[in-house]
Amino acid sequence: MGAERYVPAGADLDELRTAAASCQGCDLHENATQTVFGAGPADARVVIVGEVPGDQEDREGEPFVGPAGRLLDRALAEAGIDRSLVYVTNAVKHFKFVPAERGKRRIHKTPSRTEVVACRPWLDAELDRVGPELVVALGATAAKSLLGQDFRVTKQRGSVLPMPDREERVVATVHPSAVLRANDREAAYQGLLADLTVAAKEMGQRTTRR
Ligand code: URA
Ligand code: SF4
Repeated sequence: MGAERYVPAGADLDELRTAAASCQGCDLHENATQTVFGAGPADARVVIVGEVPGDQEDREGEPFVGPAGRLLDRALAEAGIDRSLVYVTNAVKHFKFVPAERGKRRIHKTPSRTEVVACRPWLDAELDRVGPELVVALGATAAKSLLGQDFRVTKQRGSVLPMPDREERVVATVHPSAVLRANDREAAYQGLLADLTVAAKEMGQRTTRR
């Protein structure tokens, strides 16, 4: 189990993407349409990590192209983070879902700890190649993958934190899908925006320090 043996050594991002297309590091590849690898410039300054591709991402093969992605794009713009400086990916790269009735949208399932751990070598390889200044974790799955199992987004969101075993720093926030599901959508959106603004400020400081 695990993606490790599918990750080619010394590969660039395009070669990684190609290799990930045939990953069988966990069972999720069996029912999903395709691997949804990260997307964005190889020299991005920020890597944004989501949870797992959704229904639309699974069909199109691109991360964050559905409703959650549109909300994320809006929040990034409002926080002043230039989308062209961002590489977007997911903690787990195959869609996990409960089969829906014919013609209906398939319902996303949260990946298990085992699946998150199995897929982590792809995320590490992406971070190694892109070499961002900052990582933004969207939601508990991404945050736990990067910051450890005990991490609690509700308590520890919105501050710049060191990552265990890696050099990049991380800001964790809620997942845009959680904003879309929230009872008070506007409050949830403002929370996401506040955390992304922390990330934007951190990057701003890094620009001035150079
Ligand atoms: N939610 C995610 O976590 N990732 C996507 O790519 C789309 C929705
Ligand atoms: Fe490989 Fe990750 Fe897909 Fe599992 S989810 S098969 S580890 S790419």
